[in-house]
Amino acid sequence: MKVKNICCIGAGYVGGPTMAVIAQKCPDINVTVVDINEQRISDWNDADLDQLPIYEPGLKEVVNEARGRNLFFSTDVDAAIDAADMIFISVNTPTKTYGKGKNMAADLKFVELCARQIARVAKSDKIVVEKSTLPVRTAQAIKSVLSETGNGVEFQILSNPEFLAEGTAITDLLNPDRILIGGETSEKGKEAIDALVEVYANWVSNDNILTTNVWSSELSKLVANAFLAQRVSSINSISALCEATGADVREVSKAIGMDSRIGSKFLQASVGFGGSCFQKDILNLVYIAKTFGLNEVADYWEQVILMNDHQKSRFATNILKTLYNTVSGKKIAILGWAFKKDTNDTRESAAIYVTDELLEERASISIYDPKVKEERVFADLDYLNTRSPEENKELVEVYEDPYEASKDAHAIAILTEWDEFKTYDWQRIYDGMLKPACVFDGRAILDRDQLEKIGFKYYCIGN
Ligand SMILES: NC(=O)c1ccc[n+]([C@@H]2O[C@H](COP(=O)([O-])OP(=O)(O)OC[C@H]3O[C@@H](n4cnc5c(N)ncnc54)[C@H](O)[C@@H]3O)[C@@H](O)[C@H]2O)c1
Repeated sequence: MKVKNICCIGAGYVGGPTMAVIAQKCPDINVTVVDINEQRISDWNDADLDQLPIYEPGLKEVVNEARGRNLFFSTDVDAAIDAADMIFISVNTPTKTYGKGKNMAADLKFVELCARQIARVAKSDKIVVEKSTLPVRTAQAIKSVLSETGNGVEFQILSNPEFLAEGTAITDLLNPDRILIGGETSEKGKEAIDALVEVYANWVSNDNILTTNVWSSELSKLVANAFLAQRVSSINSISALCEATGADVREVSKAIGMDSRIGSKFLQASVGFGGSCFQKDILNLVYIAKTFGLNEVADYWEQVILMNDHQKSRFATNILKTLYNTVSGKKIAILGWAFKKDTNDTRESAAIYVTDELLEERASISIYDPKVKEERVFADLDYLNTRSPEENKELVEVYEDPYEASKDAHAIAILTEWDEFKTYDWQRIYDGMLKPACVFDGRAILDRDQLEKIGFKYYCIGN
């Protein structure tokens, strides 16, 4: 079977870029990305490509090439489902905030709603592809929802988890380490797998397309994120030891990363990992392990999250201790609000939690991020519900200029590794600050010698 019409439900950080690249690489396939969020769809259709709802290097060029040709963004979900022979489900799967599995299990209500809508609308056979990250055996639940229609329409369910990293989404999509496709081993299952393989084969070598059974594919995505996050927590645990002993975590990372069995990636110590995926996917893994009575397995992976929480809190405590155990009324500038560089995504960003702890100490916080808007910063802080929105407004100010943000500050905390921070005129920043002027580098990106020569007191994570 040759795919001609693709529909993707969910125009978020995964659905948008993923489908843009499929459309760019497969000009003979029509790709329609749908969402219930009207504002998001309108932003994807904005004539000004700088207004796209997601910032990713290279994204606007890809959208510019394919949009209107064979890439469409729409709120008409039913029409897109009806027209498609392949439907990607790329909706959010946050951690449950209620009921059984609260704060651990993935909330599958958005996925189930999609399945019900597909079941209601579909009049011809479809291949349904799980693009969202889902707990192992979700395909079975989707299949059972879809098979209840009684109108003779047949569905094949595939698992095709996305491994892109925000900040490098477009290069990851163009040159993926692997494409993973899980499907049924039946004849029809194999046909569905082949149809999706053919889509990716337009730009990905067959050697990099891996086909497995559905359950292995679903579980592999959770395990990949758990292993990546585990490396961050491992090096972060060592950063605390480095600070206590006089070792330098950057030197330790380099030394161990040169061992080819360990490798150098994901070994940078930091204030902690963030993003919408690592924490939620590990919690999900922990929950699944517990469900099967594998408590030791659950405890093992939960520790990765506990270490991450500890790291964020340890960083905030360090600021407090260094500023003579009181930051009340002191201006502290936060540089970087996104959870990592080259994205405007702030979900679970370490900056939110560090700021929250400092606000609890009544610090006066100024914030600058090159890509995050003021409304987003306040939405993130208000969501925590630690203080009222009025109190947050009183204690926090968001700036569009880093020099203004740091003026009259006692300290600066670097919480995202944006490259531009390295190029600032640090002498000018120093001149505008109160003395002693401190820099707390939570991403270990600045040059100690340069800053100390200027007169800063420089504190680097892991050193
Ligand atoms: N963000 C990442 O880096 C990343 C990477 C790999 C995998 N994932 C996984 O991909 C999935 C999507 O993540 P995301 O970051 O794109 O989320 P997102 O929140 O950015 O986007 C999800 C979109 O789905 C829409 N939606 C929800 N229910 C809908 C419905 N019934 N009909 C139409 N639209 C609906 C929402 O309005 C939202 O715009 C998650 O399962 C996530 O774990 C994310």
